[in-house]
Amino acid sequence: MSEQIQWGILGPGKIASSFAKDLAMVSDARLAAVASRDLANAEAFAAEYGADRAYGSYAELLADPGVQAVYVATPHTHHCEHTLAALRAGKHVLCEKPMGINAREVQEMIDCAREQGVFLMEALWSRFNPALREAARLVKEGELGQLAYLKADFAFPGLDRDPNGRLLNPELAGGSLLDIGIYPIFLAYWLLGVPQSFQAVAKFHTTGVEKQIGLVFEYPDAIAMLYSGLSSKSEMRAELSCTGGNIYLLPRWHETDGFEIDVEGSGRRVELPTLGKGYTHEIREVHDCLSTGRTESADWTLADSLALHRLLDAIRERCSIRFPSEG
Ligand SMILES: NC(=O)c1ccc[n+]([C@@H]2O[C@H](COP(=O)([O-])OP(=O)(O)OC[C@H]3O[C@@H](n4cnc5c(N)ncnc54)[C@H](OP(=O)(O)O)[C@@H]3O)[C@@H](O)[C@H]2O)c1
Repeated sequence: MSEQIQWGILGPGKIASSFAKDLAMVSDARLAAVASRDLANAEAFAAEYGADRAYGSYAELLADPGVQAVYVATPHTHHCEHTLAALRAGKHVLCEKPMGINAREVQEMIDCAREQGVFLMEALWSRFNPALREAARLVKEGELGQLAYLKADFAFPGLDRDPNGRLLNPELAGGSLLDIGIYPIFLAYWLLGVPQSFQAVAKFHTTGVEKQIGLVFEYPDAIAMLYSGLSSKSEMRAELSCTGGNIYLLPRWHETDGFEIDVEGSGRRVELPTLGKGYTHEIREVHDCLSTGRTESADWTLADSLALHRLLDAIRERCSIRFPSEG
């Protein structure tokens, strides 16, 4: 493997632009190629973000021997297909969240990565956010006693968007749950594990996608209150309420630069800014794994992705959230 990791991007949309900006901040990363379904899009993206090569089809990028790692940034419904194609071409893959639209897809992707002996990780970038890591360490090591109550949400007004766009279109597995609800659910899973039971309430938009979802996760000694929605904005300050004190993850908590700790009324602030927008930290994780020959991250494992998607499947089942592409 050359000193720099040569990256290729599939699907030069909104998140691919943010990712490319952060990739440029990681010293041993190189944007080798970008592929769009439309060559002109790929060329425009390559010119803007300094990619060496532009392709008018995803297959051409996957056939490029100069690409080592592929970032899959297409809509949810295409993650499985595009990741499988990349893995079968022998590429390492960082796949945007949600890794698939259901656990069956995630399992297929994991099986394929293992058969090919290549790296695969879901791009759950919050798992690598420095401030969240430190807050999680404090909680897991019991420095504030036991976590008893977790409150986290993710909401923004999105119902005025294009009904055919990926957010509101059921054909593209739209709705809040897989797009942004995955973050508060991930936080509860990370800090408390799989709940022993849960309650869920969902509201639906005129296009048929779920537009709001409220969840209560029950654990032996803790409760998590989670929410995601496309109807309105929330502050996105998350709270980790422990028996010996509280941690407030500063807005927007999923990409935060710090948190406040309150123990019996005496507070202190911890600041751990992200490098760039924050995608740099997951990119570094991929590089660390590749440079040490590991095919999965120890911090966000493939088993973690599978467990998270099983939970999402259970929530969808409870709320009757269905996607046409699942038949
Ligand atoms: N980690 C994060 O912070 C974050 C933030 C936003 C989104 N995401 C995730 O990233 C993924 C992409 O989101 P986005 O907001 O970047 O979407 P987007 O702006 O719509 O871009 C998606 C790209 O995928 C390609 N594509 C391939 N097949 C497509 C199809 N059938 N319909 C539409 N586009 C298709 C398109 O590129 P070409 O036509 O040029 O090939 C398009 O530009 C989603 O799964 C989302 O959950 C993650």
